[in-house]
Amino acid sequence: MPEEIRVAINGESDIVTARQKGRDLALALGFGGVDLTLLSTAISEVARNIVKYAGRGEILLWADAKDQAQGIVVQARDQGPGIADLELAMRDGYSTGNGLGLGLPGARRLMDEFDIQSSSANGTVVTLKKWARTF
Ligand SMILES: Nc1ncnc2c1ncn2[C@@H]1O[C@H](COP(=O)(O)OP(=O)(O)OP(=O)(O)O)[C@@H](O)[C@H]1O
Ligand SMILES: [Mg+2]
Repeated sequence: MPEEIRVAINGESDIVTARQKGRDLALALGFGGVDLTLLSTAISEVARNIVKYAGRGEILLWADAKDQAQGIVVQARDQGPGIADLELAMRDGYSTGNGLGLGLPGARRLMDEFDIQSSSANGTVVTLKKWARTF
């Protein structure tokens, strides 16, 4: 298994690729059942935001481990316009693009850890992590 998987996001079809690669890595790490679906949904949301708001970017996927637990990290990066007010962007229902405004807050709820960094100078980096269940 490679250290890090990188999926370039330039359009709609790349969202499908990122979701599939994420699912493959998660399966290899021992994820199963509903967690695979939750992970796929979170990847779709951050990848779709790249297409919609930045035009292009990338999704990086890698494995993490803590004690006995296996984890998967999803990082969505772009060099787009950035998000002016992160607190607002993380609220349910806030959208500048006629969306439902549920993508970012939803992705946070679906995963175990969530971090977002954004500026007009450097674009946006969203980092998501999920731990596999050990039972
Ligand atoms: N990568 C990004 N670059 C710039 N702005 C972003 C990015 N991702 C999100 N945003 C901003 O944050 C807002 C909230 O994002 P979120 O994904 O929660 O909702 P949405 O994309 O508007 O709607 P939905 O995801 O429900 O279709 C967006 O409307 C947009 O203003
Ligand atoms: Mg969205």
